[in-house]
Amino acid sequence: MLGATGTIGRATVHALLRQGHTVVCLVRPQAGAGGRLGLADMQRLLAGAELRVGDVQDPQSLVRDGLQGQRFDALVSCLASRTGVPRDAWAIDHQAHLHALAAAQAAGVRQMVLLSALCVQKPLLAFQHAKRAFEQALMQSGLVYSIVRPTAFFKSLSGQLERLQRGKPFLVFGDGTLTACKPISDDDLAAYLARCLHDTTLHNRVLPIGGPGPAITPREQGELLFSLLGRQPHFKQVPVALLDAIIAVLGTAGRVLPALAAKAELARIGRYYATESMLVLDPASGRYSAQATPSTGSQTLAEHYAALISGRAYSERGDHAVF
Ligand SMILES: NC(=O)c1ccc[n+]([C@@H]2O[C@H](COP(=O)([O-])OP(=O)(O)OC[C@H]3O[C@@H](n4cnc5c(N)ncnc54)[C@H](OP(=O)(O)O)[C@@H]3O)[C@@H](O)[C@H]2O)c1
Repeated sequence: MLGATGTIGRATVHALLRQGHTVVCLVRPQAGAGGRLGLADMQRLLAGAELRVGDVQDPQSLVRDGLQGQRFDALVSCLASRTGVPRDAWAIDHQAHLHALAAAQAAGVRQMVLLSALCVQKPLLAFQHAKRAFEQALMQSGLVYSIVRPTAFFKSLSGQLERLQRGKPFLVFGDGTLTACKPISDDDLAAYLARCLHDTTLHNRVLPIGGPGPAITPREQGELLFSLLGRQPHFKQVPVALLDAIIAVLGTAGRVLPALAAKAELARIGRYYATESMLVLDPASGRYSAQATPSTGSQTLAEHYAALISGRAYSERGDHAVF
């Protein structure tokens, strides 16, 4: 397994172990957001799985440290660039996956389950092109594949809770109804990824997937949070044009200063999610369709928000956070 130390990776390790699989994970010596987890932390978080330290970007390490000459039935990957900036995305989402695929094939692995993203159906950003390029390579590899393209995760929709708890308004782009998604929990997505190993109806398919219940807009997410906090809804509207201006300024400055070019790409990522829904694009109408977006699982965003507010859950913020 690759990417076992990430949000979905951790949940997937647990789902695989629950199903009785033997799970071997290739991990970095320092993992987690900001490299805060040492090996002992990882062993605690991924108890029951075998951890092997290595480098996914090094083909020799994948073979020597990862596979170690043993036989594996499947490669499961939740590996993804933590920043989404172009160089990292091409190095990890594409190139490291190509190395892992080649190593797995050479070792006789017959199946791969890949965590991708629903947004790659309309690729405008570097990380989406990188993911698409690897999806193509996997489809042509001859391995049995399941390419899972989920909608938004709970953690990506929880970032404003602290603002609200400090009495601040909920920020929305436009009027907060420009986009919608069908949020999926870490555990429900993990269970689906694990199911891909044995459910043949999920083999050799690209699988867009959302969570249970109807689609929800950012404004509805805010209303949900305010109602759970027992407060009157209070929104602040941010024009999308503001993001365009930021992208233009950073994009120009980024031609001279690479650090600003990376920030421009993060602003482009923000703009994408501010204006594109995480729902299946209906090819007939060219519009995003909640109806065409399959659902799985049972855990709802409302339950997650309630757990966060009561302190029963904690959401790890990634580097993709916009607000
Ligand atoms: N956030 C959303 O709402 C959303 C929605 C749909 C799809 N997705 C997609 O879901 C995927 C996974 O998301 P996530 O939140 O679980 O990701 P995450 O928490 O950022 O985890 C990424 C994983 O990849 C590993 N990784 C990254 N760079 C690496 C490197 N250079 N060498 C070795 N390992 C590396 C990380 O290892 P370390 O712990 O060592 O850093 C970690 O295990 C992404 O492809 C994302 O695009 C996200």
